[in-house]
Amino acid sequence: MPLIKLNDKEIEVENGARLLQVALDEGFDIPHYCYHPSLSIAGNCRMCCVEVEGMPGLQISCNVTINELPEERKVDGSYDMVVNSESEEVKDARSRVLELLLLNHPLDCPVCDQAGECYLQDYSYLHGNAHSRFKEEKRVNPKKRLGDEIWIYPNRCVLCSRCIRFCDEIVGDPQLIVRNRGYSSIIDVRDGQPIDNKLSGNTADICPVGSLVSNDFLHKTRVWNLKEHDTVCMDCSVGCNVEIGVSNNEIQRIKPRYNKDVNDYWMCDDGRLGYHAAEKVERLQSPLLKGENGFDPISWTEAFEVIRENVISKEGFNASEFALIGSPYCTNEENYLLRKIVESMSVPASNIGLYPAEMEGDPIIFKSGFRISPDKTPNRTGAIDMLRVDNTMTPGDLSNGRVSIIYMLQGGLYDVMNESMLEILNNADFVIVQSTYLSDAAKLADLVLPGTMHYEKSGTMTNDRRRVQKINQAVVPPVGTREDWKVILEFANSIGCEGIEFENVDEITTEIASSIPGYEGCSTEAVGSAGINLDFEEEENKKVLA
Ligand code: SF4
Ligand code: SF4
Ligand code: FES
Repeated sequence: MPLIKLNDKEIEVENGARLLQVALDEGFDIPHYCYHPSLSIAGNCRMCCVEVEGMPGLQISCNVTINELPEERKVDGSYDMVVNSESEEVKDARSRVLELLLLNHPLDCPVCDQAGECYLQDYSYLHGNAHSRFKEEKRVNPKKRLGDEIWIYPNRCVLCSRCIRFCDEIVGDPQLIVRNRGYSSIIDVRDGQPIDNKLSGNTADICPVGSLVSNDFLHKTRVWNLKEHDTVCMDCSVGCNVEIGVSNNEIQRIKPRYNKDVNDYWMCDDGRLGYHAAEKVERLQSPLLKGENGFDPISWTEAFEVIRENVISKEGFNASEFALIGSPYCTNEENYLLRKIVESMSVPASNIGLYPAEMEGDPIIFKSGFRISPDKTPNRTGAIDMLRVDNTMTPGDLSNGRVSIIYMLQGGLYDVMNESMLEILNNADFVIVQSTYLSDAAKLADLVLPGTMHYEKSGTMTNDRRRVQKINQAVVPPVGTREDWKVILEFANSIGCEGIEFENVDEITTEIASSIPGYEGCSTEAVGSAGINLDFEEEENKKVLA
């Protein structure tokens, strides 16, 4: 392996490693605009310059690769490269580059959405001159809407071309271009067509200054008022890693979080803006009992009394008449608790189900390999593993009238009940639906229990490539609701299930790791913030965990 010396620190690196990335990984703050680890090298901003012994002038470190040298060419007999990123010459060059980049930059940091996370702001503070020698009129171009989700403030642009390379290399649709030449260069859409690809929001994320900004986040709040929460997108079965910015218990924005095994640095606009769907439904804030004139709100204590009376007290409990339906929107832990009820009450395996997938067209695969799944449920795979049921609920035994009591988890925002499922609910004597709003299924229920929405809960989910990932609560659920896992636990207790006792979600995760085949080792700590892949092999069309 090549050995380099960077500012007196010896570092062993992979053959072919990029000098700038090595320096950044080692904690050296070399300023850079145009470099992005997932894009090709443009080398146009010149900010990342360093001195490399034996090379003429200054080198842009983003474009320097490190290779092992033959013994006779090693510097000082030991090093494959010796680099200085802090010499006076380097510092001087950086401040001159910065002065050039700032020639036309407006002093609008106070109203710029990027303020607080802007490379230009940070580098000016760390590496720039305290004043500008530019006395001429600044170049002024008006802001412009480039697409539904993206605005450009051209005066802030440093022409790093990240946004252009993103559209070319990641999306595979070169929708952005540099218009005009030299001093008049400006980023614009091609042929006047708006940037409408499903990954467009990422251009604002990777713009190192406040030139491309998100329409959704425009002037919403200052970034330093946000509390960021690491979690996973819930809008399809890919499970992109995301960071949710929250203030005043409201989601203000969702941005992708790097995970090389799932979504790299990206997310789609459906996931990014998906949180607005939750704002459109009227949340349930107390259990509802169906009476002669519709639903009446009741207390949680009353709700569990009603459950006790109807599930076990009326004519004694008959396990074969009782069915449970899990949810691909709920966590592994919530679905696992349903499984525990089945085992504790000896409910026949045929009486446990999962409602059908909500499929939308075909998968969308972009040039880089980033994909959007047609399955809009985030945890179908995990729910199947926990409940040990086939992919979809089939009416089977349930539709012939044998089953009279149903407990169903919803958890999602969309009704995906097909006709036969609605018929099953219609035919049962007593139906309990746990849902966040009065969905079609909830309307058919006798008792509705208010549940928690995605981003209001914690636990784990398993994506469609069998990666177990941790989700974390970002916002506190409305008053009157209870976390879904606690409601299921209380449900279990109210019907006399034995041996189902947990103090918190992590305890359930731990039990899953010791009892569900294939999930060995999936403790909360092991899953961590990046998740872990399960090994599995296909066998006779059934997914078998290895
Ligand atoms: S708009 Fe932003 S990402 Fe695009 S070239 Fe300008 S500074 Fe770079
Ligand atoms: S691809 Fe799926 S998981 Fe990823 S951001 Fe889009 S909707 Fe969310
Ligand atoms: S980051 Fe190296 S030249 Fe721009």
